[in-house]
Amino acid sequence: MTSLSHQDLVQLLDNKVGSMLLDFEIQEAARLAHEILRLKEEQNAVILGHNYMSPELFYTIPDFQGDSLDLCRKAATTDKDIIVFCGVRFMAETAKILNPDKTVLIPAEKAGCSLAEGITAENVRQLRKQYPGVPVVSYVNTYADVKAESDICCTSGNAAAVVESLGTETVIFLPDEYLARNVAAETGRHIIFPNHTGGTSTALDYQMIGWNARCEVHEKFSVEDIKLTRKQFPDVMVLAHPECSPEVLNASDFAGSTNQIIKAVDESKASQYLVLTECAMGDNIAAAHPDKEMLRMCNIRCPHMNEITLQDTLEALKQTRYVVEVPSPIRDRARQAVERMIAIG
Ligand code: 13P
Ligand code: SF4
Repeated sequence: MTSLSHQDLVQLLDNKVGSMLLDFEIQEAARLAHEILRLKEEQNAVILGHNYMSPELFYTIPDFQGDSLDLCRKAATTDKDIIVFCGVRFMAETAKILNPDKTVLIPAEKAGCSLAEGITAENVRQLRKQYPGVPVVSYVNTYADVKAESDICCTSGNAAAVVESLGTETVIFLPDEYLARNVAAETGRHIIFPNHTGGTSTALDYQMIGWNARCEVHEKFSVEDIKLTRKQFPDVMVLAHPECSPEVLNASDFAGSTNQIIKAVDESKASQYLVLTECAMGDNIAAAHPDKEMLRMCNIRCPHMNEITLQDTLEALKQTRYVVEVPSPIRDRARQAVERMIAIG
Protein backbone atom coordinates (compact mmCIF):
# COMPACT_ATOMS: atom_id res chain seq x y z
CA MET A 1 0.00 0.00 0.00
CA THR A 2 2.83 2.39 0.84
CA SER A 3 3.84 3.26 -2.71
CA LEU A 4 0.36 4.30 -3.78
CA SER A 5 0.10 7.85 -5.08
CA HIS A 6 -2.95 10.04 -4.54
CA GLN A 7 -4.04 9.22 -8.08
CA ASP A 8 -3.56 5.46 -7.50
CA LEU A 9 -5.78 5.75 -4.43
CA VAL A 10 -8.46 7.66 -6.36
CA GLN A 11 -8.37 4.91 -8.97
CA LEU A 12 -8.53 2.14 -6.36
CA LEU A 13 -11.47 3.76 -4.58
CA ASP A 14 -13.23 4.46 -7.84
CA ASN A 15 -12.93 0.80 -8.87
CA LYS A 16 -14.00 -0.58 -5.51
CA VAL A 17 -16.57 1.88 -4.20
CA GLY A 18 -17.26 4.25 -7.11
CA SER A 19 -20.94 3.29 -6.96
CA MET A 20 -21.20 4.00 -3.20
CA LEU A 21 -19.31 7.29 -2.87
CA LEU A 22 -19.54 10.63 -4.66
CA ASP A 23 -16.46 11.88 -6.55
CA PHE A 24 -15.63 14.52 -3.97
CA GLU A 25 -15.81 11.88 -1.20
CA ILE A 26 -13.41 9.69 -3.14
CA GLN A 27 -11.01 12.61 -3.59
CA GLU A 28 -11.11 13.39 0.14
CA ALA A 29 -10.69 9.73 1.17
CA ALA A 30 -7.71 9.40 -1.20
CA ARG A 31 -6.11 12.56 0.23
CA LEU A 32 -6.45 11.27 3.81
CA ALA A 33 -5.34 7.74 2.93
CA HIS A 34 -2.27 9.04 1.10
CA GLU A 35 -1.19 11.10 4.11
CA ILE A 36 -1.83 8.13 6.47
CA LEU A 37 0.26 5.78 4.31
CA ARG A 38 3.11 8.33 4.23
CA LEU A 39 3.10 8.71 8.03
CA LYS A 40 2.76 4.96 8.54
CA GLU A 41 5.96 4.43 6.55
CA GLU A 42 7.79 7.30 8.25
CA GLN A 43 6.88 6.02 11.74
CA ASN A 44 7.44 2.31 11.03
CA ALA A 45 3.81 1.52 11.88
CA VAL A 46 1.50 -1.29 10.88
CA ILE A 47 -2.24 -0.73 10.41
CA LEU A 48 -4.65 -3.55 11.27
CA GLY A 49 -8.20 -3.14 9.94
CA HIS A 50 -11.18 -5.17 11.14
CA ASN A 51 -13.67 -6.42 8.52
CA TYR A 52 -16.24 -3.93 9.92
CA MET A 53 -14.30 -0.86 8.80
CA SER A 54 -16.14 1.22 6.22
CA PRO A 55 -14.99 0.63 2.62
CA GLU A 56 -13.03 3.85 2.05
CA LEU A 57 -10.83 2.88 5.03
CA PHE A 58 -10.94 -0.91 4.60
CA TYR A 59 -9.69 -0.81 1.01
CA THR A 60 -6.98 1.82 1.39
CA ILE A 61 -4.88 1.85 4.57
CA PRO A 62 -4.72 -1.50 6.43
CA ASP A 63 -1.66 -3.70 5.94
CA PHE A 64 -3.85 -6.52 7.14
CA GLN A 65 -7.62 -6.88 7.11
CA GLY A 66 -9.46 -9.63 8.94
CA ASP A 67 -11.58 -10.96 11.76
CA SER A 68 -10.61 -10.80 15.45
CA LEU A 69 -8.66 -14.06 15.35
CA ASP A 70 -6.74 -13.15 12.23
CA LEU A 71 -5.83 -9.73 13.57
CA CYS A 72 -4.72 -11.25 16.91
CA ARG A 73 -2.34 -13.45 14.96
CA LYS A 74 -1.05 -10.51 12.91
CA ALA A 75 -0.57 -8.47 16.09
CA ALA A 76 1.38 -11.34 17.64
CA THR A 77 3.92 -11.45 14.83
CA THR A 78 4.50 -7.84 13.78
CA ASP A 79 8.00 -6.36 13.93
CA LYS A 80 6.82 -2.73 13.52
CA ASP A 81 7.24 -0.16 16.32
CA ILE A 82 3.67 1.13 16.26
CA ILE A 83 0.41 -0.78 15.81
CA VAL A 84 -2.57 1.32 14.73
CA PHE A 85 -5.69 -0.70 15.40
CA CYS A 86 -8.66 0.24 13.22
CA GLY A 87 -11.18 -1.68 15.29
CA VAL A 88 -12.62 -1.40 18.79
CA ARG A 89 -10.85 -1.07 22.14
CA PHE A 90 -10.83 -4.73 23.21
CA MET A 91 -9.05 -5.56 19.93
CA ALA A 92 -6.43 -2.85 20.45
CA GLU A 93 -5.97 -4.03 24.04
CA THR A 94 -5.34 -7.56 22.79
CA ALA A 95 -2.65 -6.20 20.46
CA LYS A 96 -1.05 -4.42 23.46
CA ILE A 97 -1.25 -7.57 25.61
CA LEU A 98 0.69 -9.41 22.90
CA ASN A 99 3.15 -6.54 22.33
CA PRO A 100 3.89 -4.89 25.68
CA ASP A 101 6.93 -3.04 24.30
CA LYS A 102 5.23 -1.55 21.26
CA THR A 103 3.06 1.54 21.00
CA VAL A 104 -0.53 0.58 20.24
CA LEU A 105 -2.88 3.31 19.03
CA ILE A 106 -6.65 3.32 18.64
CA PRO A 107 -7.95 6.19 16.48
CA ALA A 108 -11.12 6.82 18.54
CA GLU A 109 -11.30 6.75 22.32
CA LYS A 110 -15.00 5.92 22.42
CA ALA A 111 -14.80 2.74 20.31
CA GLY A 112 -16.15 0.32 22.95
CA CYS A 113 -18.32 -2.82 22.67
CA SER A 114 -21.55 -3.80 24.43
CA LEU A 115 -20.25 -7.31 25.05
CA ALA A 116 -17.00 -6.14 26.62
CA GLU A 117 -18.98 -3.77 28.82
CA GLY A 118 -21.38 -6.55 29.85
CA ILE A 119 -19.06 -8.30 32.31
CA THR A 120 -16.47 -7.31 34.94
CA ALA A 121 -13.45 -9.05 36.42
CA GLU A 122 -15.37 -9.23 39.72
CA ASN A 123 -18.21 -11.10 37.98
CA VAL A 124 -15.67 -13.70 36.81
CA ARG A 125 -14.16 -14.04 40.30
CA GLN A 126 -17.66 -14.64 41.71
CA LEU A 127 -18.38 -17.31 39.09
CA ARG A 128 -15.10 -19.05 39.94
CA LYS A 129 -16.15 -19.13 43.61
CA GLN A 130 -19.56 -20.46 42.65
CA TYR A 131 -18.11 -23.15 40.34
CA PRO A 132 -14.68 -24.05 41.75
CA GLY A 133 -12.32 -25.80 39.36
CA VAL A 134 -14.43 -25.14 36.26
CA PRO A 135 -12.34 -23.56 33.46
CA VAL A 136 -13.31 -20.10 32.19
CA VAL A 137 -13.41 -19.38 28.45
CA SER A 138 -13.73 -15.68 27.63
CA TYR A 139 -14.65 -14.32 24.23
CA VAL A 140 -11.98 -11.88 23.02
CA ASN A 141 -14.74 -9.25 23.12
CA THR A 142 -13.83 -8.59 26.78
CA TYR A 143 -11.49 -6.11 28.46
CA ALA A 144 -8.01 -7.10 29.65
CA ASP A 145 -8.98 -7.48 33.33
CA VAL A 146 -11.64 -10.05 32.40
CA LYS A 147 -9.17 -11.91 30.17
CA ALA A 148 -6.75 -11.93 33.13
CA GLU A 149 -9.33 -13.85 35.21
CA SER A 150 -9.85 -16.40 32.42
CA ASP A 151 -8.11 -19.64 31.50
CA ILE A 152 -8.36 -19.17 27.76
CA CYS A 153 -9.87 -16.79 25.20
CA CYS A 154 -11.79 -17.59 22.04
CA THR A 155 -13.18 -15.75 19.05
CA SER A 156 -16.26 -16.48 16.97
CA GLY A 157 -13.94 -18.31 14.56
CA ASN A 158 -12.64 -20.89 17.05
CA ALA A 159 -15.07 -20.94 20.01
CA ALA A 160 -16.19 -24.57 19.65
CA ALA A 161 -12.59 -25.75 19.12
CA VAL A 162 -11.45 -23.88 22.24
CA VAL A 163 -14.25 -25.37 24.38
CA GLU A 164 -13.47 -28.86 23.11
CA SER A 165 -9.72 -28.38 23.62
CA LEU A 166 -10.29 -28.16 27.38
CA GLY A 167 -11.46 -31.76 27.59
CA THR A 168 -13.70 -30.99 30.59
CA GLU A 169 -17.40 -31.73 30.92
CA THR A 170 -18.20 -28.33 32.36
CA VAL A 171 -17.07 -24.96 31.03
CA ILE A 172 -17.82 -21.36 32.00
CA PHE A 173 -18.28 -19.40 28.76
CA LEU A 174 -18.43 -15.59 28.91
CA PRO A 175 -19.93 -13.09 28.25
CA ASP A 176 -22.09 -13.44 25.10
CA GLU A 177 -25.36 -15.23 25.81
CA TYR A 178 -26.09 -16.00 22.16
CA LEU A 179 -22.57 -17.14 21.27
CA ALA A 180 -22.63 -19.38 24.37
CA ARG A 181 -25.99 -20.87 23.35
CA ASN A 182 -24.71 -21.44 19.80
CA VAL A 183 -21.46 -23.04 20.98
CA ALA A 184 -23.36 -25.20 23.49
CA ALA A 185 -25.56 -26.48 20.65
CA GLU A 186 -22.53 -27.08 18.41
CA THR A 187 -20.59 -28.97 21.08
CA GLY A 188 -23.61 -30.86 22.45
CA ARG A 189 -23.72 -29.21 25.88
CA HIS A 190 -26.54 -28.08 28.14
CA ILE A 191 -26.38 -24.47 29.21
CA ILE A 192 -27.44 -22.50 32.29
CA PHE A 193 -27.31 -18.82 33.14
CA PRO A 194 -26.68 -18.19 36.85
CA ASN A 195 -27.09 -14.43 36.45
CA HIS A 196 -30.60 -14.79 35.00
CA THR A 197 -32.00 -15.42 38.46
CA GLY A 198 -28.98 -14.96 40.68
CA GLY A 199 -29.26 -18.75 41.26
CA THR A 200 -26.51 -20.69 43.02
CA SER A 201 -26.80 -24.19 41.68
CA THR A 202 -23.99 -26.48 42.81
CA ALA A 203 -24.89 -29.80 41.18
CA LEU A 204 -23.17 -29.62 37.81
CA ASP A 205 -25.47 -31.80 35.76
CA TYR A 206 -25.14 -29.25 32.93
CA GLN A 207 -22.05 -28.52 30.94
CA MET A 208 -21.86 -24.88 30.02
CA ILE A 209 -22.35 -21.91 32.29
CA GLY A 210 -23.10 -18.72 30.37
CA TRP A 211 -23.57 -15.02 31.03
CA ASN A 212 -26.22 -12.61 29.78
CA ALA A 213 -24.38 -9.95 27.82
CA ARG A 214 -25.37 -9.42 24.20
CA CYS A 215 -24.07 -7.62 21.16
CA GLU A 216 -26.27 -4.58 20.66
CA VAL A 217 -25.95 -5.03 16.88
CA HIS A 218 -26.52 -8.76 16.38
CA GLU A 219 -29.43 -9.00 18.82
CA LYS A 220 -31.41 -6.80 16.40
CA PHE A 221 -31.69 -9.47 13.68
CA SER A 222 -34.82 -11.60 13.78
CA VAL A 223 -36.25 -14.74 12.22
CA GLU A 224 -39.00 -12.51 10.80
CA ASP A 225 -36.33 -10.51 8.85
CA ILE A 226 -35.15 -13.77 7.30
CA LYS A 227 -38.67 -15.03 6.50
CA LEU A 228 -39.63 -11.78 4.79
CA THR A 229 -36.39 -11.70 2.79
CA ARG A 230 -36.80 -15.31 1.69
CA LYS A 231 -40.37 -14.52 0.57
CA GLN A 232 -39.10 -11.64 -1.57
CA PHE A 233 -35.92 -13.41 -2.81
CA PRO A 234 -36.51 -17.20 -2.70
CA ASP A 235 -32.91 -18.02 -3.77
CA VAL A 236 -31.19 -15.77 -1.24
CA MET A 237 -28.30 -17.21 0.81
CA VAL A 238 -28.55 -16.03 4.42
CA LEU A 239 -25.30 -15.79 6.40
CA ALA A 240 -25.29 -14.94 10.10
CA HIS A 241 -22.65 -14.14 12.70
CA PRO A 242 -22.80 -16.44 15.79
CA GLU A 243 -23.50 -13.40 18.01
CA CYS A 244 -27.05 -13.64 16.54
CA SER A 245 -29.65 -15.68 18.44
CA PRO A 246 -29.80 -19.48 17.97
CA GLU A 247 -33.21 -19.02 16.31
CA VAL A 248 -31.67 -16.67 13.71
CA LEU A 249 -28.77 -19.09 13.14
CA ASN A 250 -31.19 -21.99 12.68
CA ALA A 251 -33.10 -20.01 10.06
CA SER A 252 -29.88 -19.11 8.20
CA ASP A 253 -27.90 -21.06 5.59
CA PHE A 254 -24.48 -20.38 7.07
CA ALA A 255 -22.98 -19.21 10.37
CA GLY A 256 -19.44 -18.08 10.99
CA SER A 257 -16.98 -15.40 11.97
CA THR A 258 -16.64 -12.36 9.74
CA ASN A 259 -13.77 -14.00 7.80
CA GLN A 260 -15.75 -17.22 7.43
CA ILE A 261 -18.77 -15.28 6.10
CA ILE A 262 -16.59 -13.45 3.55
CA LYS A 263 -15.10 -16.76 2.40
CA ALA A 264 -18.54 -18.38 2.13
CA VAL A 265 -19.77 -15.57 -0.15
CA ASP A 266 -16.55 -15.77 -2.21
CA GLU A 267 -17.16 -19.48 -2.80
CA SER A 268 -20.93 -19.45 -3.31
CA LYS A 269 -22.84 -19.17 -6.57
CA ALA A 270 -26.10 -17.93 -5.03
CA SER A 271 -27.84 -15.06 -6.79
CA GLN A 272 -28.46 -12.89 -3.69
CA TYR A 273 -26.94 -12.70 -0.21
CA LEU A 274 -28.28 -11.44 3.10
CA VAL A 275 -25.43 -10.93 5.57
CA LEU A 276 -26.63 -10.66 9.17
CA THR A 277 -23.82 -8.74 10.77
CA GLU A 278 -22.55 -5.18 11.00
CA CYS A 279 -23.54 -3.55 7.70
CA ALA A 280 -20.23 -1.97 6.58
CA MET A 281 -19.03 -5.52 6.01
CA GLY A 282 -21.88 -5.94 3.50
CA ASP A 283 -20.50 -2.88 1.67
CA ASN A 284 -17.00 -4.37 1.67
CA ILE A 285 -18.26 -7.69 0.29
CA ALA A 286 -20.37 -5.87 -2.31
CA ALA A 287 -17.29 -3.87 -3.36
CA ALA A 288 -15.30 -7.09 -3.81
CA HIS A 289 -18.11 -8.77 -5.80
CA PRO A 290 -19.78 -6.35 -8.20
CA ASP A 291 -21.29 -9.44 -9.88
CA LYS A 292 -23.11 -10.59 -6.70
CA GLU A 293 -26.24 -8.96 -5.29
CA MET A 294 -25.91 -8.09 -1.61
CA LEU A 295 -29.17 -7.35 0.21
CA ARG A 296 -27.95 -5.03 2.93
CA MET A 297 -29.62 -3.82 6.12
CA CYS A 298 -27.74 -0.58 6.31
CA ASN A 299 -29.45 0.72 9.43
CA ILE A 300 -27.64 -1.95 11.50
CA ARG A 301 -24.22 -0.37 12.02
CA CYS A 302 -22.01 -0.92 15.08
CA PRO A 303 -21.77 2.55 16.65
CA HIS A 304 -18.35 1.68 18.10
CA MET A 305 -16.75 0.49 14.86
CA ASN A 306 -18.33 3.52 13.20
CA GLU A 307 -16.16 5.77 15.41
CA ILE A 308 -13.03 4.77 13.46
CA THR A 309 -12.58 7.06 10.46
CA LEU A 310 -9.76 7.98 8.07
CA GLN A 311 -9.64 11.45 9.62
CA ASP A 312 -9.17 10.03 13.14
CA THR A 313 -6.61 7.51 11.93
CA LEU A 314 -4.59 10.35 10.43
CA GLU A 315 -4.79 12.25 13.73
CA ALA A 316 -3.76 9.07 15.59
CA LEU A 317 -0.50 8.97 13.62
CA LYS A 318 0.08 12.73 13.69
CA GLN A 319 -0.48 13.06 17.42
CA THR A 320 0.46 9.55 18.58
CA ARG A 321 -3.02 9.16 20.06
CA TYR A 322 -4.87 7.37 21.68
CA VAL A 323 -2.21 5.23 23.32
CA VAL A 324 -3.60 1.93 24.63
CA GLU A 325 -2.13 0.83 27.98
CA VAL A 326 -2.72 -2.33 29.99
CA PRO A 327 -1.14 -2.46 33.49
CA SER A 328 1.53 -5.16 33.68
CA PRO A 329 0.07 -7.65 36.23
CA ILE A 330 -3.20 -7.76 34.28
CA ARG A 331 -1.36 -7.85 30.96
CA ASP A 332 0.77 -10.86 31.91
CA ARG A 333 -2.21 -12.93 33.07
CA ALA A 334 -4.35 -11.89 30.11
CA ARG A 335 -1.51 -12.77 27.76
CA GLN A 336 -1.55 -16.39 28.91
CA ALA A 337 -5.26 -16.68 28.06
CA VAL A 338 -4.77 -15.09 24.62
CA GLU A 339 -1.65 -17.12 23.79
CA ARG A 340 -3.36 -20.36 24.80
CA MET A 341 -6.07 -19.55 22.27
CA ILE A 342 -3.58 -18.67 19.52
CA ALA A 343 -1.72 -21.95 20.14
CA ILE A 344 -4.89 -23.91 19.34
CA GLY A 345 -4.62 -22.73 15.72
P1 13P B 1 -15.21 -11.54 14.31
O1 13P B 1 -14.25 -12.13 15.27
O2 13P B 1 -16.05 -12.56 13.62
O3 13P B 1 -14.49 -10.63 13.34
O4 13P B 1 -16.26 -10.67 15.12
C1 13P B 1 -15.91 -9.59 15.91
C2 13P B 1 -17.07 -8.83 16.37
O5 13P B 1 -16.96 -7.90 17.11
C3 13P B 1 -18.37 -9.27 15.90
O6 13P B 1 -19.33 -8.37 16.30
FE1 SF4 C 1 -19.09 -5.29 20.01
FE2 SF4 C 1 -21.26 -5.95 18.64
FE3 SF4 C 1 -19.83 -3.87 17.86
FE4 SF4 C 1 -18.86 -6.38 17.54
S1 SF4 C 1 -20.65 -5.48 16.54
S2 SF4 C 1 -17.76 -4.62 18.34
S3 SF4 C 1 -19.69 -7.36 19.40
S4 SF4 C 1 -20.97 -4.06 19.79
